[in-house]
Amino acid sequence: MTIGLSGQPDHDHLHAGCTADGCVQEHMAADLRAAIAAVSTALDQDAAVPTPASSISPAGLANGPALGPPLRDARWLAPGRPITLLTREPSSCLAVPPDRQQTLAVYIGRTAFRTPVLLGGEARRLGLSCSTCHRNGRTNPDFLFPGVSGQPGTADVTTSVLSTHLGDGIFNPKPIPDLALPEKKRLVSRDPANGRLEAFIHHVITREFDGPEPTARVLAGLSAYVRAISARECKSERVVTLATHLDDARVAGEAAAGAWSQGDEPTALLMIASARSALDRIEERYAPSGLSGGRSAVQSADLGLAAMQYAFNQKRADIPVRLVAWRLDMADWSVSLKKDEQRSLYNPGVLKGKKAYQ
Ligand code: HEC
Repeated sequence: MTIGLSGQPDHDHLHAGCTADGCVQEHMAADLRAAIAAVSTALDQDAAVPTPASSISPAGLANGPALGPPLRDARWLAPGRPITLLTREPSSCLAVPPDRQQTLAVYIGRTAFRTPVLLGGEARRLGLSCSTCHRNGRTNPDFLFPGVSGQPGTADVTTSVLSTHLGDGIFNPKPIPDLALPEKKRLVSRDPANGRLEAFIHHVITREFDGPEPTARVLAGLSAYVRAISARECKSERVVTLATHLDDARVAGEAAAGAWSQGDEPTALLMIASARSALDRIEERYAPSGLSGGRSAVQSADLGLAAMQYAFNQKRADIPVRLVAWRLDMADWSVSLKKDEQRSLYNPGVLKGKKAYQ
């Protein structure tokens, strides 16, 4: 599906070029990481800025070449499930509303749904987002989180592992529901008139996952997104490609621009954090040796987003221009990624042979 507020087609801007592996010099990667860390530290000192998604990494990985699963989402795969499951995802079943304002709300929600920065506590530290359990807004039959799950595909969302408020001392994991189930099978009413969905999602964020108070626009967006998921729109499973994650980043950029234009800086900041989460998902797919050019390209794009968060904090007047420029730049920096996609962990054959980080 083509998504985007601007209605531009999917990735037809990707074209060949940049033939040598490593358009960006290898040593630049370290400089970039240092620059990102410096900007992130500056942001932390300014407070009220979400932890950059790129600083959320599995325990032990931050400090060097400790062994871990090649993709972060592999941590939630039940034992024995093939890692290649992470190269496919269920249909989003998303009915994008025709009205531009409603579309913006759905994209804000879709973007918030995909970043751990929406949540707090352990969930955020471990890199769990709404979409970890509800993959692409659906269910996740392969999810297993010790202490939270019983059978694969279940979770106890009132456990003290995830919540300091709700630890009820009872281990009662429930199946993760598919958000595209028909109305009569839903647990929570989606009738906008009674507001139960908003109240439920607010509870999920702030109580079950110890998250900070979401902005009104983020809560409305998440509700609009869930309401836009419809069984009638479901198609077959799709392959997860570079384009999938580039789309996430592009939509996040558009959602940030939309929120910013309405004077909503906190929401725009969360959207940028989610764009950075999308770049994280891209970067880890380029872990194989020989793909340093792709990794550097993503890191440099991430630096652009970190700088943007800083500019937001400074209330810089040129933010709309920066947002447009960042989205236009995508066409350039994604070239080297596209070229190497078949050698990356987007390729199930490559992923299968990859047991751990090198
Ligand atoms: C750890 C896994 C997990 C995460 C993360 C998670 N959920 Fe859920 N979700 C569940 C489970 C399990 C249920 C069913 C709860 C029950 O049966 O009481 C559920 C139920 C729901 C429902 C009700 C579905 C229906 O049928 O009406 C919605 C809506 C929902 N979640 C949205 C979200 C949103 C939005 C987020 C992020 C803020 C989120 N979930 C994060 C596991 C998760």
